[in-house]
This record gives sequence, structure tokens and C-alpha cells, in this order.
Amino acid sequence: MNRLKKILDRKSFSKEDIITMLSLTSDHDIDLICKKANAVLLDHIGSGIYLRGLIEFSNICSCDCYYCGLRKSNKDFERYILKKNDIIAIAINAAKKGFASIVLQSGEIQNEKFTEFVADCVNKIKQITKSDSLPDGLGITLCCGEQSNDVYAKWFDAGAHRYLLRIESSDRKLFEKFHPPGQSYRSRYECLKSLKSIGYQTGTGVIIGLPGQTVDHLTEDIIFFRDMDIDMLGMGPYIHHNNTPLSDYKALWEKNRNDTFLMSMKMIAVSRIVLKDVNIAATTALDAIEVNGRELGVSFGANVLMPLLTPENHRAGYKLYEGKTIIDNIAEDTATFAQKMHEKFERIVIFDKWGDAPHYFNNKIGR
Ligand code: 5AD
Repeated sequence: MNRLKKILDRKSFSKEDIITMLSLTSDHDIDLICKKANAVLLDHIGSGIYLRGLIEFSNICSCDCYYCGLRKSNKDFERYILKKNDIIAIAINAAKKGFASIVLQSGEIQNEKFTEFVADCVNKIKQITKSDSLPDGLGITLCCGEQSNDVYAKWFDAGAHRYLLRIESSDRKLFEKFHPPGQSYRSRYECLKSLKSIGYQTGTGVIIGLPGQTVDHLTEDIIFFRDMDIDMLGMGPYIHHNNTPLSDYKALWEKNRNDTFLMSMKMIAVSRIVLKDVNIAATTALDAIEVNGRELGVSFGANVLMPLLTPENHRAGYKLYEGKTIIDNIAEDTATFAQKMHEKFERIVIFDKWGDAPHYFNNKIGR
């Protein structure tokens, strides 16, 4: 225990320190890292929780990731792409409700029509949502997979200023285990580099609890986030989906469920302790594996929430994993959540502010 206290007093952390923190099991020790994560959060960012309204505007995907329900080989459900006007209307409505940022998320589609479609949506949303409280319009994060440098640049010029692209696992072998040969680790890595050089606030993340993943892998993931100088993190537990090549892992997944959830909490806390001034999301997947999962994620040092704004008739169609469509009334859910966060943890949900990661500005010199 003294050893842990010594580690927590450090400003920078070795690989061994990170392994030690991620390997903790006793309630007492986990409470210590949770407290430390909160102290670091307060020091570097503050106690606010920022919102990004999540619009899953298309489930069409050209990838075939072995864990994902939206993989192209899954022919079991209907594919959709929302109409441009509908996406813009949802965004306007989000701004009216007090959201200052949105995420436009889709499967990976690489063609000119899609590129133009996204650019136009971003452009229009930026223009229409300018107001006294949001002089630069809604903050827009894109999450549309791997694209060429030119496409990323076009979307940036259209007004998107953040991009999320999960590395899924920073270990090349583990990455290859869960992706078909056409999807390469190198290409994902190059995309992240490209996003950063264009000037996006860049987010990445990993899936926690993939079969065969070890504490060593997760430790390397945190070191990867640090070395890549990442601004935002979205990590979540692996959740079983019946219609994927990983369906045989269902029993193992069930068995490890609690451990996976606990590891997700530790990943949030330790990432906060090591990376300090980045934004960390409490992802929806946390709620699919544990009641109040996102709430616990926030209590372990996350500072971003992504309430779902996808129209109700399409929510079931965006099924990355089983048990995802649990949050129905988002407006109510967000208000209740905000109240709960305040009462329980003295954390305030912040409306009307973009809530960019300080890390991006702190590290701007030398980029
Ligand atoms: N369990 C957890 N996360 C998943 N994702 C896709 N499928 C699953 C799953 N079965 C995550 C991936 C992807 C993000 C949009 O959803 O990390 O990047």
C-alpha cells in the first residue's frame, strides 16, 4: 500500500507504475486511484462534465471488424443513412436544448458522395447554429473511420474541429487478431497522425476486455495515448454481439463481465492520472454492462458524456453490441443525470460550452 501511495505521488509514471495501478484489486486501493484521478481532474480541467450529443447518422460500414455488430458481413439488419435535412434538424434541436457540441458518427464509408455529404452537413450545421451563446456554432466532432488526408482536411475546413478514431488496441498483434487482413494497424496509426497534423483535436481509445487482452496490453495502450499526444479518449468494455465471429466467446464474456467493468473503471482513472489534461468520455457501453455504468465512469475521472440523439426509429439499427438501446428519453435522462452528478459527486453538467480538452492548447506549441 505504501508503494501505491509513492506511485500516486509521482508526476510521471513508468510502465511498471501503470501495471501496478491497473492490477489493483482491493476496494481500498481502487478507492485510492479513484480519489487521485479526481484530484488530477480538478487540478487540470475542473469538475465540469461536458456534453456531446451523439448522432449516429449511418450504420453503413465497409469494415469487417470481428467484434462489431455493424460489420459489413452482418446482413441481418437494415442499413440506413439519415437525410441531410434530418441530421441538420437534430443538430439545431440539440443546440436549442443547450448542447454546445455534437458528434456525427457513422460506419466507415469511403467515397466522394459521402465526403461531400458530410462536408455539407458540417458546413450547414456550423452556419445555422451560430447564436449569442454559441458565436462559433455547435462544436462538431466527427467519427467516420479511416479516410484519406484530403478527406479529413476537407471536413476540417468545413468546420469539424475534433475527430475520434479508436486504435481499438495499440498492440499490432491484438489489432490483427480482431480485424481482417485488409484493415491494417499501420493505416489506422497513419490516420491518427494525419488528423493531428491537420489540426483536429484528436481522440482515440481501445476496447477493454477483448479475448486474449492482458494488463500489459492495456498498459501499452495508455503509453500509446501519451506518446501519440492524444487530446481525447473514448474507451469502453467489450460487449458481446451474437452475430459476429466472436459469438463463441459469449460464455467467457459473461464470466468476465464484472472484471471487465472494473478494468474499464481502472483504465479511466489511470489514464486520467497519467494523461492529466485530456478529455475522457464515460461511454454508453459502460451502461450496457453495468447499471449506472456511465455515472461510475464519471466518478472515476471521466469528464465527457455523449447522450444519444439518434432518432428513436434508428436506434435499434445502430447495434454495435447487444443491450445497447437502453436509454430512451435523452432529454430526461440528461437532466436526471445532471442532478444526480451534482448531488452525489458535486460535479456540474455544463451546457452552452464546447468543453475542448485543455491538452490541445497546452501542447499546441511544437505541433
Ligand atoms: N463492444 C464494445 N465496443 C464495440 N465497438 C464496436 N463493437 C463493439 C463491441 N462489440 C466500438 C469500437 C468502435 C466504436 C464505434 O464502437 O471501438 O470504434
